[in-house]
Amino acid sequence: MSETVSYYESPKEIEKKIWSLLTIAVKDRSSEFRTPVFICGNDEDLDGRVVVLRKADQQSSLIQYHSDIRSSKIERIRKNPNCSILFYGKDEKIQLRVKAKCEVNYNNDVTKESWKKTGHISRKCYLVTNGPGTVSDEPTSGLDNKFDNFNFTKEESEEGYKNFCVIQCKIKSIEWLYLAAKGHRRALLDLNESKKFTWLVP
Ligand SMILES: Cc1cc2nc3c(=O)[nH]c(=O)nc-3n(C[C@H](O)[C@H](O)[C@H](O)COP(=O)(O)O)c2cc1C
Repeated sequence: MSETVSYYESPKEIEKKIWSLLTIAVKDRSSEFRTPVFICGNDEDLDGRVVVLRKADQQSSLIQYHSDIRSSKIERIRKNPNCSILFYGKDEKIQLRVKAKCEVNYNNDVTKESWKKTGHISRKCYLVTNGPGTVSDEPTSGLDNKFDNFNFTKEESEEGYKNFCVIQCKIKSIEWLYLAAKGHRRALLDLNESKKFTWLVP
C-alpha cells in the first residue's frame, strides 16, 4: 500500500495538517479531533477527562475549551498549569500529544466573548446548582427542574455565566504520530521560541 499523503515526510506539511485538524475540529461537531483528553494534576495525582475543543489558533499556538469554574481541575490547574492534551483520529490515523501551559479565564474579555457564542443547550451545563463532582444522596443531573426540562429563557441562562470559565492552553510542543502500512512516522514539534522539528522513531 502506498502512502500518498503530503504530510508523510514533510515537516512543513505535518505542521499544516496538525493545525488544519485542530481548526476544523472547532467547527465540525463530527471531527475526531473535537473531543481530546485534557490531563492535569501533580506528581502524585494526574487525572484526564474529555473536553470539547472551542478554539485553535496557530498564530499564538493556543487552544482552548470551556469549563465550570467550580470543577476540581481548576484548582489543580492553578497549582500546576502544565498540562497534556491527547487527540486521536482513527480515520486520520493520527495521534497528537500536546504539552501546554494553561490559564484559567474567569469573568474577563475572553469569557465574555466565548459566553456570547455559547448556545442554549451548552449553557445548561453551567446551570447546575452545585459544582461538578459534588456528592449527591441520589442520582441527579444537578439541575433544578426548570433547567432540566429546558424550560428556561436565554435571559435566565445568563445565570450560568457566573460558573463559566475558559481554559486557554498555550502549546509548548506537539508530538505527532502517523500510522501507515508502509511505515509509521513520528515527530516532535517544539513550539517554544526557538521552533524546532525533530523526527522520532515511532
Ligand atoms: C463528549 C464530552 C465532552 C465534554 N466536554 C467538556 C468540556 O468541554 N469541558 C469540561 O469541563 N468538561 C467536559 N466534559 C466533562 C468532563 O469530561 C468531566 O466529566 C467533567 O469536566 C468533570 O470532571 P473534572 O471536574 O475532573 O474535569 C465532557 C465530557 C464528554 C463525555
